[in-house]
Amino acid sequence: MKIYIETYGCQMNEYDSEIVRAVIAAADMESTSDIHAADVILLNTCAVREHAARRVIARIHEIHHLRRDAPALIGVLGCMATNLKKNLPKRKKLPIDFVAGPDAYRRLPELIRAATTSDEVPYDIELSDYETYADVYPRREGGINAWLAVMRGCNNFCSYCVVPYSRGRERSRSPQSVVAETQRLVAEGFRQVTLLGQNVNSYRHEDVDFAELLRRVSEVPGVLRVRFISPHPKDFPLHLLKVMAGHPTICKHVHLPLQAGNDRILKLMRRTYSKKHYLDLVEQMRSIIPGLALSTDIIVGFPGESDAEFEDTVDVVQRVRFDSAFIFKYSERPGTLAARKYPDDVPEAVKTERIVRLNEMQRQISTEIFSAQIGAVQDILVERQGTKKSAQQSQGRNDANIMVILNSATQVPGTMVRARIHDATAHVLKGKALDD
Ligand code: 5AD
Ligand code: SF4
Repeated sequence: MKIYIETYGCQMNEYDSEIVRAVIAAADMESTSDIHAADVILLNTCAVREHAARRVIARIHEIHHLRRDAPALIGVLGCMATNLKKNLPKRKKLPIDFVAGPDAYRRLPELIRAATTSDEVPYDIELSDYETYADVYPRREGGINAWLAVMRGCNNFCSYCVVPYSRGRERSRSPQSVVAETQRLVAEGFRQVTLLGQNVNSYRHEDVDFAELLRRVSEVPGVLRVRFISPHPKDFPLHLLKVMAGHPTICKHVHLPLQAGNDRILKLMRRTYSKKHYLDLVEQMRSIIPGLALSTDIIVGFPGESDAEFEDTVDVVQRVRFDSAFIFKYSERPGTLAARKYPDDVPEAVKTERIVRLNEMQRQISTEIFSAQIGAVQDILVERQGTKKSAQQSQGRNDANIMVILNSATQVPGTMVRARIHDATAHVLKGKALDD
């Protein structure tokens, strides 16, 4: 059996696909990167916005068509799986053969076998309060960065968000298992570990909180950089900021989802902080961690968001001056609190206007922030020799996770080089290694 897997959505899904590859290998099934050669085609899906879900549906039909002369089994994994149950009887409209939710990957070989022998659509979309796959060592593709999920699920129930429904409740794996995996990663040549969780800083295992976990991982010999995504602003105690400030291997970068800047909208979103809270937190972070880079997620056009309320978001973006921002139009997700209570009443044209305005503003800010780095000397963790544009360059990232193009190909992936920045755009920096 040859299995092909395609991944949509966030880094947690990337990681889960690596878990799936490990489960498949343990069942003596082979992975292939050739969709035409596959007996089984897995789509690891995202449900966070309607657009993501629609893309997957279109892709299922496309694959079905592509393999019409030699049909393969098509399986749906991940966040869309959970919602498919209701629609299974209508499967004639959607040519899928089995479904496995985010907590059912251990049963994949069984589901695949069942799908080969049955006309039914076998599925397991049960969500677990315990599954962390802590004992499954993911099949990573190599490289410099390794994803490592330390917690799964979410208890926040932000009103717009499908994740608590698609991925279930929060659960954390033991710090011992995280540290042991980090040690193994270093031995295999990985140099950066990115801790993952839907609310990564809500991590708690017995008396170990996220700050303590981060400290332990950052002290594993051979780890050059530790990152984490995505945190929630509600879980940034002072001692976490101090751990970040005091450990050189922990990157001085926080992705701090804002979502909205207006208190009424934040309340309807159930975000548990106000505009002032958020701004105060940013100030506190910057005073404890000098030079901290900040990025964010923003949703425009939440139900009922007025022009004046949107201006509060604009105001926060102007005041904080994020290094980068991902901005989304509100997308109603079936089953969420917002979908049940608040009509999606901001016209599409208004959402577009708002997203365009914020994107332009952010582009300007990013360009200014990056241009100000020209002349600075930064530590670049080299990722590869050669870039899309030239074999005579190498590519890496600075501490803030910004891509830096180095103007020689002599740098070795996995090493940290000091480089002087000499050029900047809104998305990349260019530099020259000091010893080049
Ligand atoms: N509509 C638009 N954006 C959303 N996000 C989550 N749910 C929705 C939704 N229903 C965004 C949030 C989150 C990011 C991963 O996706 O900004 O931080
Ligand atoms: Fe998409 Fe959220 Fe699931 Fe990640 S956790 S794949 S962003 S729905």
